[in-house]
Amino acid sequence: MNHDWLRAIAEQFGSTGGLRQLGGEHDLNFRATAPQGDIIIKAMRAHGDAALVEQQCVAIAHALSADPTLPLPQVLPARDGRAWQHVADDRGQPRMVWVQRALEGIPMGEAGPQQLAVLSSFGALAARLDLALARFEGAATADAAKWDLTKAGWIGAHLDVLGNGARRRLIEDILADYEAALPSLRGLPSQVIHNDLNDFNILVVPGLAEPTRISGLIDFGDMAVGPRVCELAIAGAYAILDHETPEAALAALVAGYHSASPLTAAETDLIWPLLRTRLAVSVVNSTIEAAGRPGDAYVTISQAPAWRLLENAALDGALMRARLRVACRLPATDSADRVAAWLDRQRGTFAAVIGEALDDLSVGQLSVATSTVPQDPFNLRKDEARHLGPRKGSDRSRWLGQYGEPRLVYTDRAFHKGPWRASNRRTIHMAIDIFAPAGHPVHAPLAGRVAMVENRTGHLDYGGVAILEHQTPEGDVFHTLYGHLDPALCETLRPGCEVTAGEVFARLGTPDGNGGWEPHLHFQLALTLDGMGHDWPGVADPDDWELWQAICPNPAALLNLPDDRAAYRPIDEAALLAERKARFGANLKLSYRRPVTFLRGWRHHLFDEMGRPYLDAYNNVPHVGHAHPRIRTVAADQLARMNSNTRYLHPAQVALAERITAKLPEELEICFFVNSGSEANELALRLARAASGGYDIVTPDHGYHGNTTGAIDISAYKFNKPGMGGRKPWVQLVDVADDYRGRFRRDDPDRALRYAAQVDEALAAIERRGGKVAGFIAETFPSVGGQIIPPPGYLAQVYERIRRAGGICIADEVQTGLGRLGDFYFGFEQQAVRPDIVVLGKPLGNGHPIGAVITTRAVADRFAEGPEYFSTFGGSTLSCLIAAEVLDIVEDERLAANAKAMGERLLTGLQALGEKYPVIGDVRGLGLFLGVDLVTDGDSRTPATAAADYVVNRLRDMRILIGREGPADNILKIRPPLTVEAEDVDMLLARLDICLREVETARY
Ligand SMILES: Cc1ncc(COP(=O)(O)O)c(C=O)c1O
Repeated sequence: MNHDWLRAIAEQFGSTGGLRQLGGEHDLNFRATAPQGDIIIKAMRAHGDAALVEQQCVAIAHALSADPTLPLPQVLPARDGRAWQHVADDRGQPRMVWVQRALEGIPMGEAGPQQLAVLSSFGALAARLDLALARFEGAATADAAKWDLTKAGWIGAHLDVLGNGARRRLIEDILADYEAALPSLRGLPSQVIHNDLNDFNILVVPGLAEPTRISGLIDFGDMAVGPRVCELAIAGAYAILDHETPEAALAALVAGYHSASPLTAAETDLIWPLLRTRLAVSVVNSTIEAAGRPGDAYVTISQAPAWRLLENAALDGALMRARLRVACRLPATDSADRVAAWLDRQRGTFAAVIGEALDDLSVGQLSVATSTVPQDPFNLRKDEARHLGPRKGSDRSRWLGQYGEPRLVYTDRAFHKGPWRASNRRTIHMAIDIFAPAGHPVHAPLAGRVAMVENRTGHLDYGGVAILEHQTPEGDVFHTLYGHLDPALCETLRPGCEVTAGEVFARLGTPDGNGGWEPHLHFQLALTLDGMGHDWPGVADPDDWELWQAICPNPAALLNLPDDRAAYRPIDEAALLAERKARFGANLKLSYRRPVTFLRGWRHHLFDEMGRPYLDAYNNVPHVGHAHPRIRTVAADQLARMNSNTRYLHPAQVALAERITAKLPEELEICFFVNSGSEANELALRLARAASGGYDIVTPDHGYHGNTTGAIDISAYKFNKPGMGGRKPWVQLVDVADDYRGRFRRDDPDRALRYAAQVDEALAAIERRGGKVAGFIAETFPSVGGQIIPPPGYLAQVYERIRRAGGICIADEVQTGLGRLGDFYFGFEQQAVRPDIVVLGKPLGNGHPIGAVITTRAVADRFAEGPEYFSTFGGSTLSCLIAAEVLDIVEDERLAANAKAMGERLLTGLQALGEKYPVIGDVRGLGLFLGVDLVTDGDSRTPATAAADYVVNRLRDMRILIGREGPADNILKIRPPLTVEAEDVDMLLARLDICLREVETARY
């Protein structure tokens, strides 16, 4: 199409070009650059109705005058002051043309599913738009009533297009719910609403440093007159499509709306049925249209997300109703507040559930914070389940388990909510437990009727379980649940039976009949059974705790106990943070914008207070995994004996020295044990100086060797920071041998030699200042420098030059040693060199503070000419035993081989992501020492620091820990414990894929 007819209009607004067509079938949309910012030119279909344009212009102007900060497309009047003009297009057809100020951003539908906070702000904006239109007296602009949610019943006459299968029945059910909701809908006040806040009519500016912002609500061409819940239902229908947690997404959107314009309970109850109706209209409508275009695959593809949502059996309508109410801080059911108040008034009058008062029972601890049961948070052992209880106190068989307590004991698959080990799981206990011996009678606290009796035989399930239904004098119904009963009750108790207050209706089961648990009663209250049926969850996902707390509140009143008697009190994270700030220096940094508290760990997972598992792909100190039982056993055993120092003979010290030297070249035979990597490097410097008679050190730029004064002096990463005093004259820097973004790159076959040759210049500089070289120190693979793998041959050429000048070669293997690299136990093996001194730290003690320096006899002898060497804690009996155990575990569990296999899996996956996302400039690594260099542009290799920051923080929210490094902090650092498994690697890659997709939609 020739656009000359439009150019004249663009010129009216000062546009000199840049006209380009946007989407639109009958109506045409163009964007053009203009001095005051881009404009959108909208050319309506030929012979279109002028009133429709007029209505939209007036509505937008009205809303903007009511709320000027709404992100709406302001209409720019033509020269004659009118909002629109008639123009003949290139075919001579008359069209109405109008112009809007362009808004920044991209359609939300292009940006992909949004985070909950963004949906919440979208909800608030939708509410503000409805408020702004509340007094608008306009009429509908929708050209067909088919999108009017108050008149959606029309699809009922067209269900034949769906055939006769399950989909038709599904739509019939949706329509039945809709018809049932209509009277309530019709009772609500009406107003003009936008009526089509679908994800392509919402513009967003995806953020990296800033949160994603809603930048536009556009296209008022489908306005209708109806209740505002229709607006919200339509917005929700599209915003939650293909969302990972659609129920949480809808709750966030609705809560956002409610925050700006409070909803009533009756309104929130309508949202889910209306939302489903909107999608039903959409799929029926497009199926009708497709009937005219057989074989058009697009229809099926575009319908797919709607069908996926409608057919998602996990989305229960009744539960959604409660969820949306709770999201708006409304009571979960109409009677919830009345029942809670009645129970509170009756507290103290109920029959004793186990026939005796509970006031004096001790409260047991099973929380993530206080208990080490289970030792393996992914697998509660049978013996652990049978002996949960406190081991102290007068009556060990009777105690209370807390309401609201996050526990790691629920390890069965049924408690897991996602595909990976770090997926959500249900951890928060929604009952009070009363531990008492098996066979103990269970009494009804008040009269009721048996609603359900069952024997649930699954592992870690209830065994015998019963639900009683009760009524308050006001006629409000509520339920109580009794779990872990003797299954024999199934013989005697029938649904419908009446139970009187105080009546013994069941007995506690033995572990064999109660799911495998120590005998106890799980006593739970529910204010509604809506959405639960008879399959009550006894524990809740922490992310859903607010909802479940409203449905199943603390049952303490029914036990005649005060609410706080057996209720878990969470750690106050805000207070913890404030206290930390008050007690520690500001440069003691916390990871992540949203800091995280970890209380437990297991292998390569960490657990926060609520029991949410995180995949630890960052920490290299827990080399053989968090909380390794063998290390715990060794440590506990030795602490029960004694812990002393190297001034006394002990087999453990020698044993460790032998274990370490067996892994090293023969000539590295003398060991020193210290407390940390920093102390090890301090000692390495002293050894080098003693052996060489020199003082000066050559080291690569951006290196890190520790936090002590001497270690900082050789760590450019620290001393070059503002206020650190810079480089000492006795330190000479060479480039870090980074062949991706350094001076010499992979296209240069001589890059190793060229980097190494810089040592000649450093040695010359030492000579010029009248110094003598003591040695060269480098992290074998520079880590803070950016997870660098130096080109082959680099270190050999460096060492040769240093040794020729009389210097000592120190390999800092703190990051790279002990099998992390897979094929190489130490990094220097990959470089085919033999250092004079090797420094070990971090992983050696798996979290226990121990470092080591290993050197040749010649070097050690020169050092021994000086004063006594002693480190109080270095080489303590305990430290030596732990380190030796770490080395043994690496062998016994074949962790180096695992590092190789998992490293290759990761590298392959990361490289595939590199093909997909231009933000990945380079992927490098060996074994489980990996780096992903993010760039804003592949040619200039400009570091994408904001993108790296975004990815690290977003992954934290997705419960994966990684870090970032490099001089520009743009290199993702992946460095998990060596125990990581294939499913964890796959989780990391899948999540990273999402993060990188988000990065690509943003400007970085
Ligand atoms: C390569 C290297 N050397 C030495 C150290 C210092 O070790 P520490 O913190 O145990 O003193 C570190 C710490 O990150 C390191 O990465």
